Amino acid sequence: LTRIAALADLHANLPALDAIIAEIAPLDLDAVVVAGDLINMGPFSTEVLERVFSLGWAAVRGNHEFYLLDYKTPRAPAHWRDYTTPRWLNETIPLAYKRRLAAMPDTLALTFPDAPPLRVYHGYPHTPWDSMYPSNTDAEAIDAFRVTQEETILVGHVHLQQERWLREGDCAWHIINPGSAGLTLDRQVNTAPYALLEGDSDGWRATFCRASFDPQPLRDAFARPDYVHAHGAYARLYAAEFEHAHVYIWPFNRWRADACPGEPVTHALVDQFLALGEDVLKWVPEDFASPTPIPASDP
Ligand SMILES: [Fe+2]
Ligand SMILES: [Fe+2]
Repeated sequence: LTRIAALADLHANLPALDAIIAEIAPLDLDAVVVAGDLINMGPFSTEVLERVFSLGWAAVRGNHEFYLLDYKTPRAPAHWRDYTTPRWLNETIPLAYKRRLAAMPDTLALTFPDAPPLRVYHGYPHTPWDSMYPSNTDAEAIDAFRVTQEETILVGHVHLQQERWLREGDCAWHIINPGSAGLTLDRQVNTAPYALLEGDSDGWRATFCRASFDPQPLRDAFARPDYVHAHGAYARLYAAEFEHAHVYIWPFNRWRADACPGEPVTHALVDQFLALGEDVLKWVPEDFASPTPIPASDP
């Protein structure tokens, strides 16, 4: 029997990561794997990289690693010029860690002797910028995952715990999203979702867990003058997303495009958006409006 922990979307949330580390330490696991988005949005990108690298965990890159890796290269799309975080990542993450991220794989196959190979992507096989949402049909998911040889596929990106079995002819896929360890978006505040996977000749089975963490160090770091200065009015939206375990950036950008296109992102504009209260839901994508979390098991 092989037992591993699967984490995804740490998003620079050190208190959440440390809570999971403490919870899984006594389990004597065979491996830990991180399905991308280790950095960005939260305030502890460098510290999270330090933990993951020093623990020797397996990890693939997510789209948020590319905000750093593609910064000021011809690969960066023009609209990133308005984004505050790539420059902040570039200025604060040490060169040695940038080199590690540059050489990190985009996908992995974990091949233990007593269990079927397990495939790891951040998003879909063809892109880290999209993945399977609860609202996606099986046909849509099969279209994207069909190229995968392995039956069990670990993914991240969507920030909601999910488990789905897909079947097409003789082929079957078992999709597991352990949820976002650092930035869960299912309103389960101050929790760090992850999954424990058990593999043997019958395949892989997932148990969905959540570690609890103290949010105060996050709040303090979001209020730090250097963080606020680097991120401007967006800093409050990032802080709100972590505080409430609910989407803020995505609906804010949709609302701004609808209600006041082209308006610069100022504190006044963010105030106006936050004052909408429950009306904000109109701009919240359906998967995040009233998510149904998978009940957490004990590790
Ligand atoms: Fe993410
Ligand atoms: Fe992502």
